[in-house]
Amino acid sequence: MPEIPQGEFARRRQRLMRAIGPDSIIVVPAAHERTRNRDVEYPFRQDSDFLYLTGFPEADAVAVLVPGRPAGEYILFCRDRDPTQETWQGRRAGPDGAMETYGAECAFPIEDIDEILPGLMENRAVLAAPFGRDEPLDQRLFGWVNQVRAKARNGVRAPHEFVAVEHHLHEQRLFKKAPELKLMRHAAAISTQAHVRAMQACRPGLTEFAVEAELLHEFHRYGTETAYPSIVGGGENGCILHYIENRAALNDGDLLLIDAGCEVQGYASDITRTFPVSGRFGERQREVYECVLAAQLAAIEQVRPGNDWDTPHVAAVRELTRGLKELGVLKGRLDKLIRDQAYRPFYMHRTGHWLGLDVHDVGDYRVGDAWRQLEPGMVMTVEPGLYFGPYSEAPKELRGIGVRIEDDVAVTRDGHEVLTAHCPKTVADIEACMGGDLPGWN
Ligand code: GLY
Ligand code: MN
Ligand code: MN
Repeated sequence: MPEIPQGEFARRRQRLMRAIGPDSIIVVPAAHERTRNRDVEYPFRQDSDFLYLTGFPEADAVAVLVPGRPAGEYILFCRDRDPTQETWQGRRAGPDGAMETYGAECAFPIEDIDEILPGLMENRAVLAAPFGRDEPLDQRLFGWVNQVRAKARNGVRAPHEFVAVEHHLHEQRLFKKAPELKLMRHAAAISTQAHVRAMQACRPGLTEFAVEAELLHEFHRYGTETAYPSIVGGGENGCILHYIENRAALNDGDLLLIDAGCEVQGYASDITRTFPVSGRFGERQREVYECVLAAQLAAIEQVRPGNDWDTPHVAAVRELTRGLKELGVLKGRLDKLIRDQAYRPFYMHRTGHWLGLDVHDVGDYRVGDAWRQLEPGMVMTVEPGLYFGPYSEAPKELRGIGVRIEDDVAVTRDGHEVLTAHCPKTVADIEACMGGDLPGWN
């Protein structure tokens, strides 16, 4: 499995320190474990900002960056070694492990943070932290600042400029470097295999959760986790955008919409495919599908430097609206229908989002008054759809059809790379894959 090399984490920390400036102290906390119900915790997921900077996998740690500090710029507070706790809860790196394995220049038990951190803040002008995200943390941060303020008469300066660390960190995270793209390709390949497995397992009478199990089987056998709860929606359940119940039986003659992806070392993939439960598209289903596919291909075509964030969405909307006319759902002049957003009852979301350590990844979509320009290293999803749910005013024969097609697309120097390109997508490829006769898929 590809990995982010330790040197890359160090470069990320250096970039962040350069961005925030030499007279600063930067504090980024790990995630906490969270209780699901009595004595049961949710599976632990590291905070993405913390993971990006440290690669450190444990809860209840705090990374501190102090640019130019002679005794070490990168300090990690983490849970101390503890034979009893480790016997019950699992292994810990401890401060020694944090230095040996994770590149911390100094490391201390988390219990010592109140004693040590105010000292590190002394004579630093800027305190950068994720203010406003976690109230107890905010209180502790300002408590530490006040401790430093109390030493003013000894000539000690306390931080007086408070910076949202995300402002700098998220800009950095938006641009994926080569080792990150490698992980994202890997996640995309496993998710592709999972979708193929689901297509090949699917048949009428199966339940949505049984198909979900096929996805999970593929994710877990490569040691990955789901990047988000899988959406497995048959028939009109495919028209519920965030359907995660996955409890219904699958009917012959319905479509099945699956939106599922794994994450590899935190890096997400996010694929949607829609296919017939029986393995063969009906005529109207095929027409809707071809319309969404045309929109998706038109949008992907627009992913390149020089275009902005909105360009693919505009291209998708144009194709979808054209298709809605052909399907007999909308009537009128194409430009006016687009201007009036007549497609909205059937296409109510945008065409994508940034993708990375978070499935809906960080990074600004607008800069000032303008949509953001696409640049190499950005990764986004392209995911148009059409939904004719039970409430829609579409012709009766379209009701219950929900189609979304979603791929993960990296912006490259001269265009784009579809990370999920091997996941069957044309009608012919899907039908061949489900029939087991697409070379390479069985
Ligand atoms: N799976 C979440 C999304 O497509 O945005
Ligand atoms: Mn998505
Ligand atoms: Mn998705």
